[in-house]
Amino acid sequence: MAKKKSAETQDDLKLKVAQEASKLVKDEMVIGLGSGSTANMFIKELGKRIVDEELYIYGVPTSFDAKMLASQCGIPLVSLDQAGQIDLAVDGADEVEEGSLSLIKGGGGCHTMEKVIDYSAKEFVVLVDESKVVASLGENTPVPLEVLPFAYSTVLNTLLEMNTAPSIRVSGGKMGPVITDNGNMIIDVFTKIDEADVKEKELNNIVGVVENGIFSKCDKVLVGNDSKKVKVLKK
Ligand code: A5P
Repeated sequence: MAKKKSAETQDDLKLKVAQEASKLVKDEMVIGLGSGSTANMFIKELGKRIVDEELYIYGVPTSFDAKMLASQCGIPLVSLDQAGQIDLAVDGADEVEEGSLSLIKGGGGCHTMEKVIDYSAKEFVVLVDESKVVASLGENTPVPLEVLPFAYSTVLNTLLEMNTAPSIRVSGGKMGPVITDNGNMIIDVFTKIDEADVKEKELNNIVGVVENGIFSKCDKVLVGNDSKKVKVLKK
């Protein structure tokens, strides 16, 4: 009797989409390198392709962690201003709304640099396992706001006036606030998101907010699930 195939783990699904995304990279491209565990797998796959196929590409990292990993993987890096046009950005997400393909990102606190790089790319591709795909954005995942430390109390007050329940993100062991690569704090807030682009602008309008984790646009989402073929969501 044929042996029943054991269910794939979340990491298996992430790897599957990372491998699929690495096939999108062509010689001489400039690639935006996302942050987080799924984007890390993509960076490693890209490193392998550079070695195996002698690809001539440059990466633009979206965080200090992405920069360190990409360097270890042998990916030549350039800064955003040196890069000029980014051909393709590949990044993870915390939630993807199935219909609109809007996202929540920033679980790792890197969403500001991610948004600058992802939005400026000719093509922005998102990698998730199927647990991240939701019918309605923001019901189970708070939106992270990167906030100037100097302004945290006024931002909190404004969010309270908007009838939300904001919380300052603290780092596990030390119990101090999480500090981003840009030297800022993160405030997480559950908020109703009817139209992602409207909410994205509304949250960025709060004085003291540097950037929020709603991404109202991307070009394509690769979803890892139990089937052999990666599912592609496009608008
Ligand atoms: C980093 O700040 C985030 O935007 C990540 O891209 C997001 O949290 C997804 O991370 P994982 O791939 O680790 O789930």
